[in-house]
Amino acid sequence: MLSSIIFFYIIFFISVSISTKININNRPSVGVIRWDAWNLFNSQYDPISFYLHRALSPEKFHYRIPFYATVLSSTNISFNGDLQNVMDQEILYAKHAGIDYWAFDTYCQFGINCTTNNTYCIQYYKQTSNQYCPQNPSYGLNLYLSSVYKSLINFTLILLGSSPCDITFQQHYIDLMKLPQFQTVLGGRPLVYLFQFDNAEADICGCGWSGSGQIFNKFRQMAISQGLQNPYMVLMDFNVATVQSHASMLGFDAISTYALPGGTLDGTPFVELFHSAQQWWQSAHDIGAKMVPIAPTGWDPRPRAENPVPWVIEGPEHYIQPTVDELQELIRSGINFTCNYNQTVEAQTIIIYAWNECSETSGSLIPSMGNGTLYIDALSKILPMYC
Ligand SMILES: *[C@@H]1O[C@H](CO)[C@@H](O)[C@H](O)[C@H]1NC(C)=O
Ligand SMILES: *[C@@H]1O[C@H](CO)[C@@H](O)[C@H](O)[C@H]1NC(C)=O
Ligand SMILES: *[C@@H]1O[C@H](CO)[C@@H](O)[C@H](O)[C@H]1NC(C)=O
Ligand SMILES: *[C@@H]1O[C@H](CO)[C@@H](O)[C@H](O)[C@H]1NC(C)=O
Ligand SMILES: *[C@@H]1O[C@H](CO)[C@@H](O)[C@H](O)[C@H]1NC(C)=O
Ligand SMILES: *[C@@H]1O[C@H](CO)[C@@H](O)[C@H](O)[C@H]1NC(C)=O
Ligand SMILES: *[C@@H]1O[C@H](CO)[C@@H](O)[C@H](O)[C@H]1NC(C)=O
Repeated sequence: MLSSIIFFYIIFFISVSISTKININNRPSVGVIRWDAWNLFNSQYDPISFYLHRALSPEKFHYRIPFYATVLSSTNISFNGDLQNVMDQEILYAKHAGIDYWAFDTYCQFGINCTTNNTYCIQYYKQTSNQYCPQNPSYGLNLYLSSVYKSLINFTLILLGSSPCDITFQQHYIDLMKLPQFQTVLGGRPLVYLFQFDNAEADICGCGWSGSGQIFNKFRQMAISQGLQNPYMVLMDFNVATVQSHASMLGFDAISTYALPGGTLDGTPFVELFHSAQQWWQSAHDIGAKMVPIAPTGWDPRPRAENPVPWVIEGPEHYIQPTVDELQELIRSGINFTCNYNQTVEAQTIIIYAWNECSETSGSLIPSMGNGTLYIDALSKILPMYC
Protein backbone atom coordinates (compact mmCIF):
# COMPACT_ATOMS: atom_id res chain seq x y z
CA MET A 1 0.00 0.00 0.00
CA LEU A 2 2.67 2.46 1.10
CA SER A 3 4.85 1.60 -1.85
CA SER A 4 1.97 2.12 -4.27
CA ILE A 5 1.35 5.56 -2.74
CA ILE A 6 5.02 6.38 -3.12
CA PHE A 7 4.86 5.06 -6.67
CA PHE A 8 1.86 7.28 -7.34
CA TYR A 9 3.72 10.34 -6.08
CA ILE A 10 6.76 9.53 -8.16
CA ILE A 11 4.61 9.28 -11.29
CA PHE A 12 2.75 12.42 -10.26
CA PHE A 13 5.95 14.44 -9.87
CA ILE A 14 7.40 13.12 -13.11
CA SER A 15 4.31 14.13 -15.05
CA VAL A 16 4.18 17.56 -13.35
CA SER A 17 7.80 18.21 -14.23
CA ILE A 18 7.27 17.05 -17.82
CA SER A 19 4.25 19.30 -18.34
CA THR A 20 6.08 22.20 -16.67
CA LYS A 21 8.95 21.69 -19.05
CA ILE A 22 6.68 21.70 -22.10
CA ASN A 23 5.10 24.91 -20.89
CA ILE A 24 8.44 26.59 -20.30
CA ASN A 25 9.43 25.75 -23.86
CA ASN A 26 6.27 27.32 -25.11
CA ARG A 27 6.10 30.89 -23.91
CA PRO A 28 5.27 33.49 -26.57
CA SER A 29 7.43 36.61 -26.30
CA VAL A 30 5.88 40.02 -25.72
CA GLY A 31 7.25 43.12 -27.44
CA VAL A 32 6.27 46.78 -27.09
CA ILE A 33 6.62 49.62 -29.59
CA ARG A 34 8.78 52.55 -28.47
CA TRP A 35 8.64 56.00 -30.04
CA ASP A 36 11.45 58.14 -28.76
CA ALA A 37 10.67 61.82 -29.28
CA TRP A 38 11.15 63.04 -25.73
CA ASN A 39 14.56 64.61 -26.13
CA LEU A 40 16.47 67.84 -26.18
CA PHE A 41 19.06 68.54 -28.84
CA ASN A 42 21.54 71.35 -28.11
CA SER A 43 19.30 72.30 -25.14
CA GLN A 44 16.22 72.71 -27.34
CA TYR A 45 13.46 70.25 -28.10
CA ASP A 46 14.42 68.11 -31.06
CA PRO A 47 12.06 69.02 -33.99
CA ILE A 48 9.69 66.12 -33.30
CA SER A 49 9.84 66.51 -29.52
CA PHE A 50 8.91 70.15 -30.08
CA TYR A 51 5.48 69.11 -31.38
CA LEU A 52 5.05 66.49 -28.69
CA HIS A 53 5.79 69.12 -26.04
CA ARG A 54 3.27 71.47 -27.59
CA ALA A 55 0.58 68.78 -27.85
CA LEU A 56 0.85 67.66 -24.22
CA SER A 57 1.26 71.11 -22.64
CA PRO A 58 -2.48 71.84 -22.08
CA GLU A 59 -3.46 70.91 -18.53
CA LYS A 60 -6.13 68.40 -19.55
CA PHE A 61 -3.41 66.22 -21.08
CA HIS A 62 -0.91 66.39 -18.22
CA TYR A 63 -2.11 63.06 -16.82
CA ARG A 64 -0.43 61.39 -19.80
CA ILE A 65 3.08 62.74 -19.37
CA PRO A 66 5.69 60.13 -18.45
CA PHE A 67 7.18 59.86 -14.97
CA TYR A 68 10.23 61.92 -15.85
CA ALA A 69 8.30 64.96 -17.15
CA THR A 70 7.39 68.00 -15.05
CA VAL A 71 4.38 70.31 -15.01
CA LEU A 72 5.55 73.94 -15.16
CA SER A 73 2.13 75.59 -15.36
CA SER A 74 -1.37 74.88 -16.60
CA THR A 75 -0.13 75.51 -20.14
CA ASN A 76 3.41 74.19 -20.04
CA ILE A 77 5.41 71.08 -19.26
CA SER A 78 9.03 70.08 -19.60
CA PHE A 79 10.83 66.79 -20.17
CA ASN A 80 14.08 65.27 -21.26
CA GLY A 81 14.15 61.53 -21.74
CA ASP A 82 17.69 61.64 -23.10
CA LEU A 83 19.28 60.82 -19.75
CA GLN A 84 20.84 57.55 -18.69
CA ASN A 85 19.06 57.43 -15.33
CA VAL A 86 15.70 57.86 -17.09
CA MET A 87 16.41 54.97 -19.45
CA ASP A 88 17.71 52.81 -16.60
CA GLN A 89 14.43 53.37 -14.77
CA GLU A 90 12.41 52.62 -17.91
CA ILE A 91 14.20 49.30 -18.30
CA LEU A 92 13.42 48.38 -14.70
CA TYR A 93 9.77 49.29 -15.24
CA ALA A 94 9.56 47.23 -18.43
CA LYS A 95 11.21 44.29 -16.69
CA HIS A 96 8.72 44.57 -13.84
CA ALA A 97 5.88 44.44 -16.37
CA GLY A 98 7.26 41.21 -17.84
CA ILE A 99 8.02 42.62 -21.28
CA ASP A 100 10.54 40.69 -23.37
CA TYR A 101 11.58 43.33 -25.86
CA TRP A 102 11.19 46.88 -27.01
CA ALA A 103 10.74 47.57 -30.70
CA PHE A 104 12.51 50.88 -31.34
CA ASP A 105 11.06 53.08 -34.09
CA THR A 106 14.08 53.71 -36.30
CA TYR A 107 14.37 56.90 -38.35
CA CYS A 108 16.93 58.80 -40.41
CA GLN A 109 18.97 61.36 -38.57
CA PHE A 110 18.76 64.87 -40.03
CA GLY A 111 20.76 68.06 -39.75
CA ILE A 112 19.25 71.45 -38.93
CA ASN A 113 16.29 72.42 -41.17
CA CYS A 114 15.78 68.84 -42.37
CA THR A 115 19.11 68.63 -44.14
CA THR A 116 20.35 65.22 -45.22
CA ASN A 117 22.47 63.83 -48.04
CA ASN A 118 20.56 60.58 -48.31
CA THR A 119 17.93 60.33 -51.07
CA TYR A 120 15.83 57.86 -49.07
CA CYS A 121 15.82 60.21 -46.10
CA ILE A 122 14.78 63.09 -48.33
CA GLN A 123 11.93 60.97 -49.64
CA TYR A 124 10.92 60.23 -46.06
CA TYR A 125 10.42 63.79 -44.88
CA LYS A 126 9.15 65.13 -48.20
CA GLN A 127 6.74 62.34 -49.01
CA THR A 128 6.29 59.54 -46.50
CA SER A 129 5.98 61.67 -43.40
CA ASN A 130 5.89 65.41 -44.03
CA GLN A 131 8.65 67.26 -42.15
CA TYR A 132 9.50 64.32 -39.94
CA CYS A 133 13.18 65.12 -39.51
CA PRO A 134 14.54 64.50 -36.00
CA GLN A 135 18.16 65.36 -35.27
CA ASN A 136 18.76 62.60 -32.73
CA PRO A 137 16.13 59.91 -33.21
CA SER A 138 18.26 57.09 -31.83
CA TYR A 139 18.92 58.57 -28.39
CA GLY A 140 16.64 55.96 -26.83
CA LEU A 141 18.34 53.01 -28.49
CA ASN A 142 21.77 54.42 -27.61
CA LEU A 143 20.84 54.91 -23.95
CA TYR A 144 19.39 51.41 -23.82
CA LEU A 145 22.60 49.99 -25.28
CA SER A 146 24.73 51.92 -22.79
CA SER A 147 22.63 50.92 -19.78
CA VAL A 148 24.02 48.58 -17.14
CA TYR A 149 20.53 47.02 -17.12
CA LYS A 150 20.32 46.24 -20.84
CA SER A 151 20.44 42.49 -20.29
CA LEU A 152 17.05 42.70 -18.52
CA ILE A 153 15.18 43.34 -21.76
CA ASN A 154 15.80 42.59 -25.43
CA PHE A 155 15.24 44.87 -28.39
CA THR A 156 14.40 44.97 -32.05
CA LEU A 157 13.79 47.66 -34.66
CA ILE A 158 10.77 49.01 -36.46
CA LEU A 159 12.30 50.34 -39.66
CA LEU A 160 10.34 53.14 -41.29
CA GLY A 161 9.97 54.27 -44.89
CA SER A 162 12.41 53.65 -47.73
CA SER A 163 15.71 54.28 -45.95
CA PRO A 164 15.99 50.61 -44.87
CA CYS A 165 16.85 49.99 -48.55
CA ASP A 166 20.15 51.85 -48.06
CA ILE A 167 22.99 49.37 -47.85
CA THR A 168 24.89 51.41 -45.24
CA PHE A 169 21.82 51.47 -43.02
CA GLN A 170 21.37 47.74 -43.59
CA GLN A 171 24.88 47.06 -42.34
CA HIS A 172 24.06 49.08 -39.23
CA TYR A 173 20.96 46.91 -38.56
CA ILE A 174 23.07 43.78 -39.03
CA ASP A 175 25.64 45.06 -36.53
CA LEU A 176 22.80 45.53 -34.04
CA MET A 177 21.42 42.05 -34.81
CA LYS A 178 24.75 40.59 -33.73
CA LEU A 179 24.24 41.86 -30.17
CA PRO A 180 23.06 39.26 -27.62
CA GLN A 181 20.07 41.47 -26.70
CA PHE A 182 18.63 41.47 -30.21
CA GLN A 183 15.29 39.64 -30.11
CA THR A 184 15.08 36.45 -32.12
CA VAL A 185 12.28 34.04 -33.03
CA LEU A 186 12.03 30.46 -34.32
CA GLY A 187 15.28 29.36 -32.74
CA GLY A 188 17.56 32.29 -33.46
CA ARG A 189 16.21 34.29 -36.40
CA PRO A 190 16.59 38.06 -35.77
CA LEU A 191 13.12 39.65 -35.66
CA VAL A 192 12.67 42.97 -37.50
CA TYR A 193 9.64 45.06 -38.46
CA LEU A 194 9.11 47.46 -41.39
CA PHE A 195 6.40 50.14 -41.42
CA GLN A 196 5.38 53.04 -43.70
CA PHE A 197 6.49 51.16 -46.78
CA ASP A 198 3.96 51.65 -49.58
CA ASN A 199 3.99 52.22 -53.36
CA ALA A 200 6.11 55.39 -53.26
CA GLU A 201 8.68 53.73 -51.01
CA ALA A 202 8.73 50.60 -53.18
CA ASP A 203 9.33 52.81 -56.23
CA ILE A 204 12.36 54.57 -54.80
CA CYS A 205 13.69 51.42 -53.14
CA GLY A 206 13.66 49.03 -56.09
CA CYS A 207 11.58 50.59 -58.88
CA GLY A 208 8.52 48.77 -57.56
CA TRP A 209 7.56 45.88 -55.37
CA SER A 210 9.46 43.05 -57.01
CA GLY A 211 12.65 45.10 -57.26
CA SER A 212 12.26 45.98 -53.60
CA GLY A 213 11.81 42.30 -52.85
CA GLN A 214 15.24 41.74 -54.41
CA ILE A 215 16.75 44.53 -52.30
CA PHE A 216 15.45 42.97 -49.09
CA ASN A 217 16.53 39.55 -50.25
CA LYS A 218 20.08 40.87 -50.63
CA PHE A 219 19.78 42.24 -47.11
CA ARG A 220 18.93 38.74 -45.87
CA GLN A 221 21.92 37.30 -47.72
CA MET A 222 24.15 39.99 -46.22
CA ALA A 223 22.99 39.05 -42.71
CA ILE A 224 23.44 35.32 -43.36
CA SER A 225 26.91 35.84 -44.85
CA GLN A 226 27.91 37.55 -41.61
CA GLY A 227 26.92 34.57 -39.51
CA LEU A 228 23.36 35.46 -38.57
CA GLN A 229 20.30 33.33 -39.17
CA ASN A 230 17.85 34.48 -41.82
CA PRO A 231 16.11 37.60 -40.43
CA TYR A 232 12.39 37.15 -39.69
CA MET A 233 10.91 40.17 -41.42
CA VAL A 234 7.45 41.50 -40.57
CA LEU A 235 5.68 44.14 -42.67
CA MET A 236 3.29 46.45 -40.81
CA ASP A 237 0.30 48.23 -42.34
CA PHE A 238 -3.28 48.87 -41.37
CA ASN A 239 -5.27 46.85 -43.91
CA VAL A 240 -4.91 43.07 -43.66
CA ALA A 241 -5.38 42.29 -47.37
CA THR A 242 -3.08 45.11 -48.52
CA VAL A 243 -0.27 44.32 -46.14
CA GLN A 244 -0.46 40.62 -46.97
CA SER A 245 -0.19 41.35 -50.68
CA HIS A 246 2.74 43.75 -50.16
CA ALA A 247 4.51 41.37 -47.79
CA SER A 248 4.30 38.55 -50.29
CA MET A 249 5.72 40.74 -53.07
CA LEU A 250 8.59 41.76 -50.76
CA GLY A 251 9.20 38.17 -49.72
CA PHE A 252 8.57 39.06 -46.09
CA ASP A 253 7.86 36.39 -43.49
CA ALA A 254 4.79 37.81 -41.78
CA ILE A 255 2.42 40.74 -41.37
CA SER A 256 1.34 42.91 -38.48
CA THR A 257 0.23 46.49 -37.92
CA TYR A 258 1.45 49.40 -35.85
CA ALA A 259 -1.81 50.46 -34.26
CA LEU A 260 -5.56 50.33 -34.80
CA PRO A 261 -6.87 53.89 -35.08
CA GLY A 262 -10.58 54.52 -34.66
CA GLY A 263 -13.16 55.56 -32.11
CA THR A 264 -15.65 58.39 -31.86
CA LEU A 265 -15.73 62.00 -30.67
CA ASP A 266 -17.26 60.96 -27.36
CA GLY A 267 -14.91 58.04 -26.90
CA THR A 268 -15.71 54.46 -27.83
CA PRO A 269 -15.53 51.85 -25.05
CA PHE A 270 -12.20 50.04 -25.07
CA VAL A 271 -13.88 46.67 -25.59
CA GLU A 272 -14.54 47.67 -29.20
CA LEU A 273 -10.84 48.26 -29.83
CA PHE A 274 -10.22 44.86 -28.30
CA HIS A 275 -12.72 43.32 -30.71
CA SER A 276 -11.18 45.13 -33.63
CA ALA A 277 -7.79 43.65 -32.69
CA GLN A 278 -9.32 40.17 -32.52
CA GLN A 279 -10.88 40.73 -35.93
CA TRP A 280 -7.49 41.78 -37.34
CA TRP A 281 -5.88 38.57 -36.07
CA GLN A 282 -8.74 36.44 -37.34
CA SER A 283 -8.78 38.06 -40.80
CA ALA A 284 -5.05 37.49 -41.17
CA HIS A 285 -5.53 33.87 -40.18
CA ASP A 286 -8.48 33.48 -42.57
CA ILE A 287 -6.49 34.60 -45.60
CA GLY A 288 -3.63 32.26 -44.72
CA ALA A 289 -1.14 34.94 -43.66
CA LYS A 290 1.68 34.47 -41.20
CA MET A 291 1.12 37.11 -38.57
CA VAL A 292 2.38 38.79 -35.41
CA PRO A 293 -0.72 39.82 -33.40
CA ILE A 294 -0.98 43.52 -32.64
CA ALA A 295 -2.19 44.26 -29.11
CA PRO A 296 -3.30 47.90 -29.10
CA THR A 297 -3.67 49.33 -25.59
CA GLY A 298 -5.50 52.39 -26.88
CA TRP A 299 -5.98 55.11 -29.45
CA ASP A 300 -6.58 58.72 -28.45
CA PRO A 301 -4.75 61.40 -30.46
CA ARG A 302 -6.81 64.32 -29.11
CA PRO A 303 -3.66 66.24 -28.09
CA ARG A 304 -2.59 66.13 -31.76
CA ALA A 305 -6.03 67.08 -33.00
CA GLU A 306 -5.84 70.27 -30.90
CA ASN A 307 -2.20 71.04 -31.68
CA PRO A 308 -1.52 69.34 -34.99
CA VAL A 309 1.78 67.76 -35.88
CA PRO A 310 2.89 68.28 -39.50
CA TRP A 311 3.67 64.67 -40.35
CA VAL A 312 0.25 63.07 -39.84
CA ILE A 313 -3.35 64.27 -39.68
CA GLU A 314 -5.18 62.82 -36.69
CA GLY A 315 -8.64 63.76 -35.52
CA PRO A 316 -10.27 63.81 -32.07
CA GLU A 317 -11.92 60.41 -32.51
CA HIS A 318 -10.72 58.09 -29.78
CA TYR A 319 -11.25 55.08 -27.57
CA ILE A 320 -11.60 55.29 -23.80
CA GLN A 321 -8.46 54.05 -22.09
CA PRO A 322 -8.48 50.44 -20.87
CA THR A 323 -9.10 49.45 -17.28
CA VAL A 324 -6.68 47.03 -15.66
CA ASP A 325 -9.00 44.12 -16.45
CA GLU A 326 -9.42 45.21 -20.06
CA LEU A 327 -5.68 45.53 -20.58
CA GLN A 328 -5.09 42.09 -19.09
CA GLU A 329 -7.86 40.58 -21.20
CA LEU A 330 -6.33 42.01 -24.38
CA ILE A 331 -2.90 40.56 -23.65
CA ARG A 332 -4.29 37.21 -22.49
CA SER A 333 -6.37 36.95 -25.61
CA GLY A 334 -3.42 37.84 -27.87
CA ILE A 335 -1.23 35.21 -26.25
CA ASN A 336 -4.05 32.67 -26.34
CA PHE A 337 -4.45 33.29 -30.07
CA THR A 338 -0.69 32.95 -30.51
CA CYS A 339 -0.71 29.59 -28.72
CA ASN A 340 -3.79 28.23 -30.48
CA TYR A 341 -2.89 29.33 -33.99
CA ASN A 342 0.77 28.47 -33.87
CA GLN A 343 0.98 28.00 -37.64
CA THR A 344 -0.34 31.50 -38.29
CA VAL A 345 1.69 33.01 -35.45
CA GLU A 346 4.71 30.86 -36.16
CA ALA A 347 7.08 33.38 -34.56
CA GLN A 348 5.24 32.98 -31.23
CA THR A 349 5.41 36.66 -30.40
CA ILE A 350 2.95 39.53 -29.99
CA ILE A 351 3.58 43.25 -30.34
CA ILE A 352 1.95 45.83 -28.05
CA TYR A 353 1.16 49.39 -29.11
CA ALA A 354 2.64 51.22 -27.21
CA TRP A 355 5.20 52.04 -24.54
CA ASN A 356 5.40 55.83 -24.87
CA GLU A 357 3.15 57.12 -27.66
CA CYS A 358 1.58 59.42 -25.06
CA SER A 359 0.26 62.02 -27.55
CA GLU A 360 -1.48 59.32 -29.58
CA THR A 361 -2.82 57.00 -26.89
CA SER A 362 -3.77 57.39 -23.25
CA GLY A 363 -3.10 53.67 -22.92
CA SER A 364 0.70 54.01 -23.10
CA LEU A 365 2.34 51.60 -20.69
CA ILE A 366 5.10 53.88 -19.42
CA PRO A 367 4.35 55.10 -15.88
CA SER A 368 2.62 58.46 -16.18
CA MET A 369 1.63 61.37 -13.99
CA GLY A 370 -2.07 60.49 -13.92
CA ASN A 371 -1.99 56.71 -13.91
CA GLY A 372 1.34 55.97 -12.27
CA THR A 373 2.43 52.36 -12.61
CA LEU A 374 -1.15 51.11 -13.15
CA TYR A 375 -0.50 49.46 -16.53
CA ILE A 376 2.90 47.92 -15.84
CA ASP A 377 1.56 46.56 -12.55
CA ALA A 378 -1.39 45.09 -14.46
CA LEU A 379 0.96 43.31 -16.87
CA SER A 380 3.25 42.12 -14.10
CA LYS A 381 0.33 40.13 -12.71
CA ILE A 382 -0.20 38.13 -15.93
CA LEU A 383 3.29 37.96 -17.48
CA PRO A 384 5.14 35.79 -18.18
CA MET A 385 2.31 33.80 -19.70
CA TYR A 386 2.73 30.25 -20.96
CA CYS A 387 0.70 28.39 -23.55
C1 LIG B 1 7.57 76.70 -21.10
O1 LIG B 1 8.54 76.87 -20.09
C2 LIG B 1 9.85 77.06 -20.58
C3 LIG B 1 10.79 77.04 -19.37
O2 LIG B 1 10.41 78.02 -18.45
C4 LIG B 1 9.92 78.34 -21.37
O3 LIG B 1 11.23 78.52 -21.87
C5 LIG B 1 8.93 78.24 -22.52
O4 LIG B 1 8.93 79.45 -23.23
C6 LIG B 1 7.55 77.93 -21.99
N1 LIG B 1 6.68 77.66 -23.15
C7 LIG B 1 5.46 78.13 -23.22
C8 LIG B 1 4.69 77.79 -24.46
O5 LIG B 1 4.95 78.80 -22.33
C1 LIG C 1 17.10 77.21 -41.06
O1 LIG C 1 15.95 77.83 -41.57
C2 LIG C 1 15.71 79.11 -40.99
C3 LIG C 1 14.34 79.58 -41.47
O2 LIG C 1 14.26 79.43 -42.86
C4 LIG C 1 16.84 80.06 -41.35
O3 LIG C 1 16.62 81.33 -40.77
C5 LIG C 1 18.13 79.47 -40.84
O4 LIG C 1 19.23 80.29 -41.25
C6 LIG C 1 18.34 78.06 -41.35
N1 LIG C 1 19.52 77.50 -40.69
C7 LIG C 1 20.50 76.93 -41.37
C8 LIG C 1 21.68 76.44 -40.55
O5 LIG C 1 20.45 76.75 -42.56
C1 LIG D 1 26.16 66.54 -46.57
O1 LIG D 1 27.40 66.44 -47.24
C2 LIG D 1 28.21 67.61 -47.10
C3 LIG D 1 29.43 67.45 -47.99
O2 LIG D 1 30.00 66.20 -47.81
C4 LIG D 1 28.57 67.78 -45.64
O3 LIG D 1 29.34 68.94 -45.45
C5 LIG D 1 27.27 67.90 -44.82
O4 LIG D 1 27.58 67.97 -43.44
C6 LIG D 1 26.36 66.73 -45.08
N1 LIG D 1 25.08 67.01 -44.43
C7 LIG D 1 24.46 66.13 -43.65
C8 LIG D 1 23.18 66.56 -43.06
O5 LIG D 1 24.91 65.03 -43.42
C1 LIG E 1 17.12 37.91 -25.34
O1 LIG E 1 17.25 37.12 -26.48
C2 LIG E 1 18.17 36.07 -26.32
C3 LIG E 1 18.38 35.41 -27.67
O2 LIG E 1 17.18 35.26 -28.37
C4 LIG E 1 17.66 35.11 -25.26
O3 LIG E 1 18.56 34.08 -25.05
C5 LIG E 1 17.50 35.90 -23.96
O4 LIG E 1 16.92 35.08 -22.97
C6 LIG E 1 16.62 37.11 -24.17
N1 LIG E 1 16.65 37.94 -22.98
C7 LIG E 1 15.55 38.44 -22.45
C8 LIG E 1 15.73 39.35 -21.29
O5 LIG E 1 14.44 38.17 -22.87
C1 LIG F 1 -8.48 30.81 -26.30
O1 LIG F 1 -8.66 30.52 -27.68
C2 LIG F 1 -9.58 29.49 -27.94
C3 LIG F 1 -9.55 29.18 -29.43
O2 LIG F 1 -9.71 30.37 -30.19
C4 LIG F 1 -10.95 29.92 -27.45
O3 LIG F 1 -11.87 28.88 -27.65
C5 LIG F 1 -10.87 30.26 -25.96
O4 LIG F 1 -12.09 30.79 -25.53
C6 LIG F 1 -9.78 31.28 -25.71
N1 LIG F 1 -9.62 31.48 -24.30
C7 LIG F 1 -9.43 32.68 -23.78
C8 LIG F 1 -9.27 32.75 -22.29
O5 LIG F 1 -9.42 33.70 -24.45
C1 LIG G 1 1.11 23.85 -32.09
O1 LIG G 1 -0.04 23.51 -31.35
C2 LIG G 1 -0.37 22.16 -31.44
C3 LIG G 1 -1.73 21.97 -30.79
O2 LIG G 1 -1.72 22.55 -29.50
C4 LIG G 1 0.72 21.35 -30.81
O3 LIG G 1 0.44 19.96 -30.90
C5 LIG G 1 2.03 21.64 -31.51
O4 LIG G 1 3.10 20.99 -30.85
C6 LIG G 1 2.30 23.11 -31.55
N1 LIG G 1 3.43 23.37 -32.41
C7 LIG G 1 4.44 24.13 -32.00
C8 LIG G 1 5.54 24.34 -32.99
O5 LIG G 1 4.50 24.65 -30.90
C1 LIG H 1 -5.82 57.76 -15.48
O1 LIG H 1 -5.72 59.06 -14.92
C2 LIG H 1 -6.75 59.93 -15.32
C3 LIG H 1 -6.44 61.30 -14.76
O2 LIG H 1 -6.27 61.22 -13.38
C4 LIG H 1 -8.09 59.40 -14.84
O3 LIG H 1 -9.12 60.24 -15.28
C5 LIG H 1 -8.28 58.01 -15.40
O4 LIG H 1 -9.46 57.45 -14.88
C6 LIG H 1 -7.10 57.12 -15.07
N1 LIG H 1 -7.26 55.87 -15.79
C7 LIG H 1 -7.44 54.69 -15.22
C8 LIG H 1 -7.59 53.54 -16.13
O5 LIG H 1 -7.45 54.56 -14.02
